[in-house]
Amino acid sequence: MTQITSRAIHISQHGGPEQLSLVQVTVGEPGPGEIRIRHKAVGLNFIDVYQRSGLYPMNLPMQLGMEASGVVEAVGEGVTHLQVGDRAAYASQPPGSYCEVRVMPAKCVCKLPDGIGFDTGAAMMLKGLTAQYLLRRTLPQGGLNPGDFVLFHAAAGGVGLIACQWAKALGLQLIGTAGSDAKCALAKEHGAAHVINYATEDFQARVKEITGGRGVKVVYDSVGKDTWDKSLDCLAPFGLMASFGNASGPVAPFSPGILGPKGSIYVTRQTLFTHIATRESTQAMADELFAVVLSGAVKIRIDQRFALEDVQAAHRALEARQTTGCTILTL
Ligand SMILES: NC(=O)c1ccc[n+]([C@@H]2O[C@H](COP(=O)([O-])OP(=O)(O)OC[C@H]3O[C@@H](n4cnc5c(N)ncnc54)[C@H](OP(=O)(O)O)[C@@H]3O)[C@@H](O)[C@H]2O)c1
Repeated sequence: MTQITSRAIHISQHGGPEQLSLVQVTVGEPGPGEIRIRHKAVGLNFIDVYQRSGLYPMNLPMQLGMEASGVVEAVGEGVTHLQVGDRAAYASQPPGSYCEVRVMPAKCVCKLPDGIGFDTGAAMMLKGLTAQYLLRRTLPQGGLNPGDFVLFHAAAGGVGLIACQWAKALGLQLIGTAGSDAKCALAKEHGAAHVINYATEDFQARVKEITGGRGVKVVYDSVGKDTWDKSLDCLAPFGLMASFGNASGPVAPFSPGILGPKGSIYVTRQTLFTHIATRESTQAMADELFAVVLSGAVKIRIDQRFALEDVQAAHRALEARQTTGCTILTL
């Protein structure tokens, strides 16, 4: 049998982008519940930065990457939802998508509809499924109704631009923050009802002004350390603080006692991997995502493309806040 090899990106210690190195690996046959997939494109995500830097400590050495699209090349025992030759895409654990071909669990791999290309598939799964569970499943008491205000930080990023469009399709008034006027304009173009440049404006004061003093029902906060305190004060009584990332650093410990005087507000920390823990849940979420993309309500914007071997530059750009929308690695 001919041996299958793949170029892949590994780290052997935590640190900066210089830790990312191109290696050659051997790829075997899929075991029970697994597939082998030959990638067409790979998605870049901020979680890759946390795993590389050590903010999320990992067992090393490791192959990075949580998202990709490609063609199913071999199917292990017990896998019934995929066949050899299927076009597919995924957001999935364990990491390892930064490569040409890999063996991986089939559970979170979904067939890609004909109307969605490989680049779009690679860009949209992790970020789109995140927007799905945030806007559709991470809700305040009584849910969200058309006209309701929500605050979404980093609105011009990968998850952000998908959320802007999806929120608009749901009739929500999404107030988007971003770090420059150009990024704010982009978020507005993609459906944000209001935008705030949080590098130059006090976002808490602006949210009060925009909502007529009422505050928002939910804050979706992936920035973390820099936005946490003021975000709590943007909430209406009984509002929900949905923390889902730490692009500026982790949130400092706090006492639950502070939540009462702020209006009996709720706090949750969400991760996609709880939502996609089963095949059924993953597929149900993906079906909703595919539907909004196929209908044109949500367009997946790929603003940066880097060759796999230029992954260090891709990480530098993402961390330096130089990117907008989605970024993919090409093979
Ligand atoms: N928990 C989950 O399930 C889950 C799933 C997916 C993503 N996420 C999180 O969602 C966020 C967005 O992910 P993404 O991949 O789409 O990334 P992204 O939004 O394209 O990039 C991150 C953005 O965060 C903003 N930011 C604010 N302070 C920053 C800082 N000090 N350093 C770097 N960036 C900073 C920047 O936008 P501005 O310049 O406009 O501020 C930057 O462009 C990330 O925090 C990620 O970890 C969480």
